Amino acid sequence: MSRVVVIPCEGFTLNISEIAPDKSISHRSVMFAMLAEGTSEITNFLRAEDTLNSLNIVKNLGARVVDDGVTIKISSEGIKESSEILDCGNSGTGMRLFCGLLSSAEGHFVLTGDEYLRRRPMKRVTAPLRNIGAKLDGRNDGDLAPLSIRGASLQAFNYESKIASAQVKSAMILAALRADGICTYTEPELSRDHTERMLKGMGAEISVDGLKTTITPMKKLLSPLKIRVPADPSSAFFFAVAAAITPNASIILEGVTLNETRIEAFRALERMGANIKYEQTDDKYEPIGNIHVKYAPLKAITVEDNISWLIDELPVLSIAFACADGESIIKNAEELRVKESDRISTVVSGLRACGIEVDEYEDGYKVKGGVLKAAKVDSHGDHRIAMSFIIAGLRCGMEVSDLDCINTSFPNFFELLQKITKVEFK
Ligand code: S3P
Repeated sequence: MSRVVVIPCEGFTLNISEIAPDKSISHRSVMFAMLAEGTSEITNFLRAEDTLNSLNIVKNLGARVVDDGVTIKISSEGIKESSEILDCGNSGTGMRLFCGLLSSAEGHFVLTGDEYLRRRPMKRVTAPLRNIGAKLDGRNDGDLAPLSIRGASLQAFNYESKIASAQVKSAMILAALRADGICTYTEPELSRDHTERMLKGMGAEISVDGLKTTITPMKKLLSPLKIRVPADPSSAFFFAVAAAITPNASIILEGVTLNETRIEAFRALERMGANIKYEQTDDKYEPIGNIHVKYAPLKAITVEDNISWLIDELPVLSIAFACADGESIIKNAEELRVKESDRISTVVSGLRACGIEVDEYEDGYKVKGGVLKAAKVDSHGDHRIAMSFIIAGLRCGMEVSDLDCINTSFPNFFELLQKITKVEFK
């Protein structure tokens, strides 16, 4: 499937209970199972390329995995050296968290990824890990994969990170669990906190005080994880924007994590005037519930705080900006430049192709709301860029190319989209 043409749509009322399961939690669930004694049980695991690569790596590291198609049961007798090269595919989360997990494991490991991942910066994890004794290397002095890791003993640390990154925080927490003393990790702004919640739920001694996380090394293996992975708010948000930009549209997105560090984009859409309601139905490791989104005319906003809480949703939020009245601005979002594509450049060029006026800055952009026009947009191999411009097509029609990347996070995206509108594959 290389190209799709999206036909504009005229309103819909829909309940979706099959939003893709959360990618961040799925990666973590299979990795953390390796730190437990006994069998972890994971249901609603995201069966997409990124997370299946993590599951495969966990198998290569010696975990026993029994998968009946509904529940994945994982038991491990410690991390074992693998004769395989460990392939993270397109996933930065996979690669960075495995760096933390493997830095103290006995043996030698090689992590690699696809052509996009091999261009993304890894020094943000390899540098602080090397500082505490990890033996990690890669191209460009440890910045670029393939990375090689030889497990070593790690020293206790007090690390103050300059970037708000859940991937860096999680890698360091995983390292701290096997360091030789109590460790602290401080971040400039709170990033998503699934690692802390899940590991605490498994019995790890982790305490959080504002931006500072204190980790006591594991004295014994953790309790197994028993988790149903909630729906991914970042995936759900494509359909939230679909409803918010389409007159006469209303949607209910079911079973989504309502973790505050993940629903900031919904809050931004609310500030723009969309009608949004949250209904909590469960609370296991995380609050979980349904999100209702109804169309209302949108107005421009500025987004400059808590950027890491909505970093993944900024591309499709920008489609809402293009449909709003006034000039919307994104600031302090330089991290967008090192995602699956340089998302400042790919969003700006995509919106311009659709006839929208955009000013580009080093750390964001300004979008002048207007009338979206049908265009041809390339995803640059980035799943969120592909899905964002497909959603724009609901307003004006669109041809989007290079679509395989959507399988990294949201394999049933087109199935759900076709409940709203017609699409033609070319
Ligand atoms: C993720 C953290 C975020 C996010 C990524 C998933 C995670 O990256 O963009 O899609 O699961 O920890 P950073 O932590 O690098 O900001």
